[in-house]
Amino acid sequence: MGELYVIDHPLVVDKVSMLRNEETGNKEFRELVEEIALLICYEATRNIALKEVIIKTPIGFTQCKVIADKKFALIPILRAGIGMTDGMLKLMPTAKVGHVGLYRDPETLNPVEYYCKLPSDVEERDVYIIDPMLATGGTASAAIQFLKEKGVKAMKFLCIIACPEGVERLKKEHPDVDIYTAAYDEKLNDHGYIVPGLGDAGDRLFGTK
Ligand code: URA
Repeated sequence: MGELYVIDHPLVVDKVSMLRNEETGNKEFRELVEEIALLICYEATRNIALKEVIIKTPIGFTQCKVIADKKFALIPILRAGIGMTDGMLKLMPTAKVGHVGLYRDPETLNPVEYYCKLPSDVEERDVYIIDPMLATGGTASAAIQFLKEKGVKAMKFLCIIACPEGVERLKKEHPDVDIYTAAYDEKLNDHGYIVPGLGDAGDRLFGTK
């Protein structure tokens, strides 16, 4: 637990490079985020439990394995996390989706929840918290804390680019949560952007710059 998994599959590496390129437009950016999210999801679900079932093929009966319990929840952190949701749903179509929005109080600097809609049985589900950029780790840590207070026990954090500051913070504050990322960058700059990163993920997804 509390591990950092950097997915170095060539398909992922290639797509992250395209994502970083400032020439990549919003449409292609959105498609790449979705595809990368699907590939990260593939890795992050490697250890989910299987159970044995008997299946009848057109030829005969056989013992097969299927996923034991499809109780998953995807929790995108608003707003950029939304960009990763559909890619993950392609692999986990039965997952429920909850949304969490947090902002930083300018005076206390504490994260404040401004939106929250979760599956009613979220505490019984394997939860995948998703946000493309793990920067300071402040929002991610607050979202994890918030979900723990709702009773969630099994959580993984999935992002596309992480940096040492965010990873260290999550490892310290939530050592029980594994982190999956497609890239582990050098550092944060003075404005809280990951270097070299890809810029503002929300703006590039939604064309709001
Ligand atoms: N959020 C972003 O969208 N980009 C960063 O580099 C850091 C946080």
